Amino acid sequence: MKVTYYGHSCFGVEVCGKRLLFDPFISPNPKAAHINIDTVEADYILVTHGHADHIHDCVAIGKRTGAKVIANYEVYLWLMKQGIENGHPMNMGGSCVFDDIKIKCVVAVHSSSMPDGSYGGNPVGFLIESKEGNFYYAGDTALTYDMKLIGDYKTIDFAFLPIGNNFTMSIDNAIIASDFIRCDRIIGMHYDTFGAIMIDQHEAMQKFGNAGKDLFLMTIGEEKMY
Ligand code: NI
Ligand code: MN
Repeated sequence: MKVTYYGHSCFGVEVCGKRLLFDPFISPNPKAAHINIDTVEADYILVTHGHADHIHDCVAIGKRTGAKVIANYEVYLWLMKQGIENGHPMNMGGSCVFDDIKIKCVVAVHSSSMPDGSYGGNPVGFLIESKEGNFYYAGDTALTYDMKLIGDYKTIDFAFLPIGNNFTMSIDNAIIASDFIRCDRIIGMHYDTFGAIMIDQHEAMQKFGNAGKDLFLMTIGEEKMY
């Protein structure tokens, strides 16, 4: 599986020859100014909730690529109103198989409203299963015991967890989340984009290391094989 970082919580993951794009927020992010959204490819776009820092570029990339956009029902309805035609609504607890890739919506403890203030349903995380491996994309979430369900029933090869604190889990809570999901390879997200979520990256890596875990903090634009 090839992971590409586009900044904040936006990642591309190539799995089984398909390109999954998570929470597209690129063009308003000054740290991702070198990424041209017209070059970002996707077969599927997965959106965890309606907040602008997760959905801002979804309509532009969705329309250009024709990617299938997967989101909760309320976010899906809003995207349809913005002109997305190839959408697929899901909701927590449900799963669906697309091109041999199983996508399951799991609990995220957060909030969700659309950029125009309209109702955005409940936030979700995604569990992805394929013959190439499994991974968990947590979205914006607090630490929650529900994460234990993932670790109890699935083997996770790597996980994307928020670590920026203030709006989501902190570094310390992400280490506990890593225990809950029984996965020691964590890709950090939702940090250092703006003032309230600045972290000490060195300290974060050290804390994970002390817990016997690997924290990967990717450079924006970097690609990495997992
Ligand atoms: Ni959010
Ligand atoms: Mn967010």
